[in-house]
Amino acid sequence: MAFFSLTKFTFLFSLTLTFLLMLNSTKPQTLSPKPCNNPYKQLNLILNPNGTITRPNKPPETPPSLDPTLPVLSKDLIINQSKGTWARIYVPRKTLNQTSKKLPLVIFFHGGGFIFLSAASTIFHDFCFNMANDIVSVVASVEYRLAPEHRLPAAYEDAVEALHWIKTNYQSDDWLKNHVDFSSVFLMGSSAGGNIAFNTGLRVEDGDSGISKMIKGLILVQPFFSGIHRTDSELRLVSESHLSLCNNDMLWELSLPVGANRDHEYCNPTIGDNILRLENIRRLGWSVLVTDCDGDPLVDRSIGLVRFMEKKGVRVMGHFTKGDYHGVQDSEPLKAKELFVVIKKFISSLPNQAIE
Ligand SMILES: *[C@@H]1O[C@H](CO)[C@@H](O)[C@H](O)[C@H]1NC(C)=O
Ligand SMILES: *[C@@H]1O[C@H](CO)[C@@H](O)[C@H](O)[C@H]1NC(C)=O
Ligand SMILES: *[C@@H]1O[C@H](CO)[C@@H](O)[C@H](O)[C@H]1NC(C)=O
Repeated sequence: MAFFSLTKFTFLFSLTLTFLLMLNSTKPQTLSPKPCNNPYKQLNLILNPNGTITRPNKPPETPPSLDPTLPVLSKDLIINQSKGTWARIYVPRKTLNQTSKKLPLVIFFHGGGFIFLSAASTIFHDFCFNMANDIVSVVASVEYRLAPEHRLPAAYEDAVEALHWIKTNYQSDDWLKNHVDFSSVFLMGSSAGGNIAFNTGLRVEDGDSGISKMIKGLILVQPFFSGIHRTDSELRLVSESHLSLCNNDMLWELSLPVGANRDHEYCNPTIGDNILRLENIRRLGWSVLVTDCDGDPLVDRSIGLVRFMEKKGVRVMGHFTKGDYHGVQDSEPLKAKELFVVIKKFISSLPNQAIE
């Protein structure tokens, strides 16, 4: 199998907090971080007197569409009404008349620091639409509950519930029933969504063998991780407009369980039970793709994660590019297209049977 070593392949990519740039781009850039202690103010959130949160400047959303002239059709399916969770399913139109052809299923989790955005956000709708078309797969983009109203692990629980829901209900949906190869399922996410894909993988690996056997791999695009100790790239890019260290810290402040520090296992993948769970991922034979770029403050954590998984014997491929920034694939369609080429290659490089 052609798994690339980290050092040989340097490319380009990114993820999802693009719009945080808009919120803070007018502030002067400073070389040393200013004290960050008011996450609501920093992230432009309004804490209402009745305890609810208002998110001003809501980015545009796009509805699903069954328009038969589009190359990809999409629809929303409710997962759990009481939680407001649902999934938007994308299928390439050409495959709808080919019932014999089954496609991989990419289960996608959007970014936004666990706090912002939606599967309906136009940037993610367009991304998933184009991904279904380019890599020729079915995509299920999961709407999960957001922090700080619902702190972690709420998003992971919603993601696990989404997997159970797909496994239990796919027979009642024509698209899932007729067009998905359920031995070729991938958990994917960008930024905070990459963190959710990773933590969801760790949660299902020992929970439900039916689900863990249908999963073939994880695709982590600029995954949002942290830790108490700063990395070189976090310090080098401390005021990076797409994800400043201050915003980074404040997102964790509002999404981790109250009182947890950044070495919590939701946040630092190399800590605690995660180590044991990675061992199980190795045994299940899942493959992992991690992509990032040198302009992303998170890049050193991505490189560290690849090395850590290599050490644990997990089959992992790192793909790193130069000159890009956090969230580049959400704002630059050509960068997304390059990412899809890498993902397609990753998926097609995998063996057909999981190794026990
Ligand atoms: C809480 O306050 C906000 C802002 O004033 C208002 O929009 C919202 O409807 C209120 N929600 C509840 C449940 O009272
Ligand atoms: C939906 O969510 C509620 C609240 O968490 C939970 O009690 C219920 O079991 C869920 N329903 C299904 C069908 O999973
Ligand atoms: C699929 O089949 C339907 C019904 O047979 C037909 O109307 C439609 O044009 C076909 N679509 C494509 C993309 O071939």
